[in-house]
Amino acid sequence: MKDALDDLKITLVEESRLPQVDLLHLTFGTVFSDHMFIADYIDGRWQTPEIRPYGPIELYPGAKVFHYGQAVFEGMKAFKDEEGRVFLFRPDKNFERINRSAWRLAMPPIPEEFFMGGIKKLIELDKDWIPDGEGASLYIRPVYIAIDNQIAANASRNYRFMIMTSPAQKYFSGEVKVKIEQHYSRACAGGVGFAKAAGNYAAQFMPTMEAAKEGYTQLIWTDSKTHQLVEESGAMNVFFRIGDEICTPELTDSILPGVTRDSLLTLGRDQGLNMVERKITVDELVDAAESGELKEIFGAGTAVTVLPIKGFGYKDKYYPMPELDNPIAGILKQMLLDIQYNRAPDPYGWRVRVL
Ligand code: COI
Repeated sequence: MKDALDDLKITLVEESRLPQVDLLHLTFGTVFSDHMFIADYIDGRWQTPEIRPYGPIELYPGAKVFHYGQAVFEGMKAFKDEEGRVFLFRPDKNFERINRSAWRLAMPPIPEEFFMGGIKKLIELDKDWIPDGEGASLYIRPVYIAIDNQIAANASRNYRFMIMTSPAQKYFSGEVKVKIEQHYSRACAGGVGFAKAAGNYAAQFMPTMEAAKEGYTQLIWTDSKTHQLVEESGAMNVFFRIGDEICTPELTDSILPGVTRDSLLTLGRDQGLNMVERKITVDELVDAAESGELKEIFGAGTAVTVLPIKGFGYKDKYYPMPELDNPIAGILKQMLLDIQYNRAPDPYGWRVRVL
């Protein structure tokens, strides 16, 4: 089995597209850097990986990914510090997670050399695409798909692993309001909600579009049986400040175990904050909002970082959050960014220098 990058084949772009890109004004995920990594798994063996100019790939219309959604992905970022050094943030977590997602979707594991080595090589080649400044990063998107040209609803034999990168600024612009979903479900017990499976995202689009008509940016998903237990928000995990507690739903098999979620729990605990993972019910949130105990809601995710939420909607009623002078979300976000951008010591060993 080939799992080393020694014989990585590299084809460089003839001319970089970078001069045509305004790195200060980017719509998230719309611009891709010059190169991508690609490796196929054919008949039980990884083939020689390749880096080539970012561009279209060829697949048969019969490829299983199109019919059965056998696909998983990851979201990561590379950060540039003031001296131009480049760091990844906890990439081991993403590597573990993509292989856990792959396992759930009956896909063979991706070799670490391909995942880590592919990302590092791409960053070396496309380092000039990393935007400068607070909030800016190079978003990294590894994606893994089933490519058998066969209309049969069973696991593919052959797969393709790719990595692309995209210079990024903010994910959401403007105020974010969320609606607690009471009818549709993102995931269910025993399902694939804990995996970063492509279909988990498609399942959210229609209900999210419906909520957008009422002025909401995102949904907060609840458990599929009772719609009482808060789960996550699709593009991010969620935290609530209720009284002296900063709580987030405890992980289940229908919640994505976010790297940012995990990092905030650690950072907060080390600051002496009462960070709690537990079951959170919708009734509790409504009561806490009505009594004034619910002080903050914020999202946590790689793309959004830490995102303050203005308020939530539930059963035709909107519950705004109070305006605070020094919200916990802001404190945690600053601590996280200071580690990510190499402005603060990293006692956890989360930063991984690439360049
Ligand atoms: C990320 O936070 O990186 C994700 O993959 C979520 C996605 C919806 C942008």
